[in-house]
This record gives sequence, structure tokens and C-alpha cells, in this order.
Amino acid sequence: MIDTHSHILPNLDDGFETMAQSMDVITLAAAQGVRVIVATPHCCDGVYDCRKSDILAACRDLSAAVARAGIDIRILPGAEIRVNHDLVARFDAGDLLTLGNTGRYLLCELPPMFITQAVLQMIRQLTQRHVTPVIAHAERNPVIMAHPELASDLIFTGARLQVTAGSLTGDFGRGPLKMARTLAQNNQIFCLGSDIHPGRKYRMKPAEKKLNKLMDSADTDEILQKNPEHLLEPSPWRREPFPDRKNTGCDKFLKIS
Ligand SMILES: [Fe+2]
Repeated sequence: MIDTHSHILPNLDDGFETMAQSMDVITLAAAQGVRVIVATPHCCDGVYDCRKSDILAACRDLSAAVARAGIDIRILPGAEIRVNHDLVARFDAGDLLTLGNTGRYLLCELPPMFITQAVLQMIRQLTQRHVTPVIAHAERNPVIMAHPELASDLIFTGARLQVTAGSLTGDFGRGPLKMARTLAQNNQIFCLGSDIHPGRKYRMKPAEKKLNKLMDSADTDEILQKNPEHLLEPSPWRREPFPDRKNTGCDKFLKIS
């Protein structure tokens, strides 16, 4: 299982304060069957703007501690980047860290309110640069919750949707739970992340069980293993599979259950 969103690196953002706290969560993640955690501290969100070099250095330190502890988990670098007007310019300037530092997928956090056309334009600009935006916790965004049909627009324009594990277990309330279920039933989830912060529960394994009730185990495996494996694949020569009808959710009538 691969966790594609976490605030596991200590002392960078609103994640954990000490290495010991991070290691406690990593131990828990290993017990839940997680083998890779992508560390994605906040960037460009108006409060935190973690620098690439700091994230890479913190990732090396935490990876060394994990190896010393003999835990079978890889920690990979990444960032959760708040979408704003200069995101593409900052990407072009080389400021932004992609997931796994492969240069291929960028974890983007939409603001609570946004203009759809501007976001679709940003997605187009990134895909023109051969970078795929992954929309972080799409199910928790108020605009998407109010307009679930936007999920298909985002996917067709070239983005992929990430859901937080805790949304599927109801940790974020009824709205995100309903939206996460809808995205799962419409096969619109590309990958899952714990988005682990202090005070939240680590929910990857419980979320897997919830997904298995909503879809085939093969589809769950795509979300938890195959898609993230592809996402973290470093080779620029491996062609990204274009989503088929099933994966865009366009073979089903979008319904809120
Ligand atoms: Fe996050």
C-alpha cells in the first residue's frame, strides 16, 4: 500500500514536531501494510512555503532514522502546493517539488473557493509541460462538494483526484464522506493519502476496507498500489495510460449516495 500524502517530516510545517512522533506514525503505517509514504509538506499556502532543498534534506534524515529502526517503509519527497495565480510560473522556475521528485506529478491543493475556468487553465498549462496535477483531498473541497460534476471536468482536462483516507472513514464529517463515496463509486479516485497531521488518526488500512465495500478489490488495488506505483515511476519514457471510460466515471450517472 502506498500513502501519497502526508505531513510526516518533522519541523517543516504543521506536521509533527519531533522525529520520535514521526517514527511512531511510521511504525503504525507499517503495521497497516503501508510500504511507501510520500512526504508532502505545505508549500505556497500563505503560511508555509517549504523549500525544495529543505524537504529533500528532511526526507534523507527521516529515511535514515527509518532504516536505523529496521522498518520496511520508504519515505519519498513531495509537496502539497496551494493553487494560486503564480503556480505555473513557480513550477517553470524550478521551485516546486513533484511527487517522488520525478518531475511528473504535482500535488495541488485547491483553495476553498476558486474559479473553475482558471483551475482548468492551470491544469492545461501543467499538462502541456508533461506534468499531471493531482488534486489533493478533492472530496473535502467545498466547491467540488457543492458541484460534484466538476470531478469529471477536472479529470477530462488532465488532472487526477486524490482522496484522504480519513474521509472514507467519516473522520471529516458527512459531506466529505458522501463525496468520497461518490468518487469511489464513479471510479474517479486515482490514489489515496493519509494527509496525516498531529491529532488525526492514521486510516490507510480502515480506508482500504471501506473501498473494498464500494468497489472490486482489483479497483481498490489500483488506487492503493498500481496507480501510485505508476505515479512514482521515475522513467520519463513510460507512457501514462490515458484514463478509459471506467476510470473517468463517465460510464455512470454521477449520483450522491
Ligand atoms: Fe495535506
